[in-house]
Parts: sequence; structure tokens; C-alpha cells
Amino acid sequence: MRIVCVEDYRRLSVIAADIVVELMQAKPDAVLGLATGSTPIGLYRELVRREREGQVDCSHATTFNLDEYLGLPEEHPQSYRHFMEEHLFGRLRRRPRKTYIPPSLPDDLDEACRAYEERIREHGGIDLQILGIGRNGHIGFNEPGSSLGSRTRPVALRPETIADNARFFSSPEEVPRYAITMGIGTILEARQIVLLASGLNKSEAVQQAVEGPITCQCPASALQMHPNVVMILDEEAASRLENLDYYRELEEARSRMAAILEEARRRTVRAS
Ligand code: GLP
Repeated sequence: MRIVCVEDYRRLSVIAADIVVELMQAKPDAVLGLATGSTPIGLYRELVRREREGQVDCSHATTFNLDEYLGLPEEHPQSYRHFMEEHLFGRLRRRPRKTYIPPSLPDDLDEACRAYEERIREHGGIDLQILGIGRNGHIGFNEPGSSLGSRTRPVALRPETIADNARFFSSPEEVPRYAITMGIGTILEARQIVLLASGLNKSEAVQQAVEGPITCQCPASALQMHPNVVMILDEEAASRLENLDYYRELEEARSRMAAILEEARRRTVRAS
């Protein structure tokens, strides 16, 4: 797990956008796993800006969102379909080829979950999954107690998640109690994962996810088992990490190592 600690939310969004754009340039038909919530909004804004400036083209990409509330019609202002249209899809000059989001009103719940997994498989799996993190360590809507091998399925939201998400609704009673989410096992199959966390209220979940035991009590801790995860954290979200200085040193070492190798290569070329 790479821990990248940056000064603020703006920088976090820029670095996340760099990773997405680099992938899209290398693989224009990439399959992106997308997240909702306040945290990735800066990333989406940055992607829209770069797309409009012609730095990146998303029109060959396919996207799969992590989750969706059950029971809200797609056009409801708080549905995740609506969120994605408002913050990303609807603002791009050219939309991604296909944008999948779990259905909010499926005829057959279990069948819809199976079909979502099947679609991901048909597209060759997710190249890059963007994640936020809940205050209780959830990823997608995989709440504490979710099996680490879980797949796309219907879930109930925890009271703290309902309370946190109530800020988007006129009252807590309006927040849906149920959702469909990709499972932890589904998320772990992505080839690369980028988790974004900003603010003091995420610092405990981040500390548990990075340095705590791997446990279903903190679903994000499952990411410790994944070979290619980058966590981009602002100062506040990183503030409770016990090994923060060491993670910083590792990141500095990466750039120093690259410079040393580059210099050594130049010397070898000169000598030959
Ligand atoms: C929601 C979403 C998660 C998201 C989390 C954090 O419940 N289902 O995918 O990561 O909340 O949201 P925020 O970024 O607004 O703190």
C-alpha cells in the first residue's frame, strides 16, 4: 500500500487526476470503477477541466460505479446516477462509452447483482477503482461486518452512515436504508485501487485501514491485501497514522531512487 500524504484537498484531487489521466492515455478503453460522496468531487472537477482542454479523452472508457441507493428513482437528486451526471458524465465534452451504476429499482435484486458482476467480467475487469472511505471504515456501502470476500449484493446501511449522508437530504428519515454495493471481493479484483480521504473525521478510519488488523470491522483494511493500492490523504486524514514519518520517507525515497537510477543510466551511456 502506498501512502501519499499531501498538503490539502486540492492537491489530493490533482494527484488522483494525474493517475486517472495517465491510465487513460496508456489505455483509452480502460474500465474505471467510480465512487460517489464529497471526496471525489475535486477529482471529477479536475478530470472535466483536463478533458475540456483536450488532455484526455474518456469516450472510449467504460465506468462502473460502486453502489446505488435502493428505491430512489434515477432522476432523484440524491441518486448516485444523478450525482455522476451532475459531477462528471454530464459535464464531459464526450461521455464515456458506457456508464454502469447498480440499478436502484431492480425487478429482481439477486439477479441484478449477479448481472452487475457479469458485466464487469465481460468488460475484462476494472483497471482502476476510485474509493472514498466512510467514517466507520466502509468502502462502497460495505459496512463493518461485511465479509472480505463479498460480491455485489443488497445491503443495509449502518446508522452512522445514514446520519452522515443525511446532510444531502432534507431529513435523516429521507435517507434510504438499503443499497446495492459492489462487494469487498469485487473491489479487490480491480487491478489498481486509489483511495481518497480528506478531513479529520476520516483520520481514525484511515489509521485502522492502514495500520490496524485486517478485519471485517474495518472493511477498508482489506485493501492491505491488494498489491496495487495508493491512498491519497490530506494532512488531516493522515494525522493519526503512527508510521506517518516513515510513509513520507518512502515517498521521498521513490523520487530519490528514480533520480539515482537515471543518473547511473546516463553515466553508463556516456561510458559506452
Ligand atoms: C458514501 C459512499 C461511499 C463514500 C462514503 C464517504 O456512503 N457510499 O462510497 O466513500 O460515503 O463519503 P464522503 O466522501 O462524502 O465522506
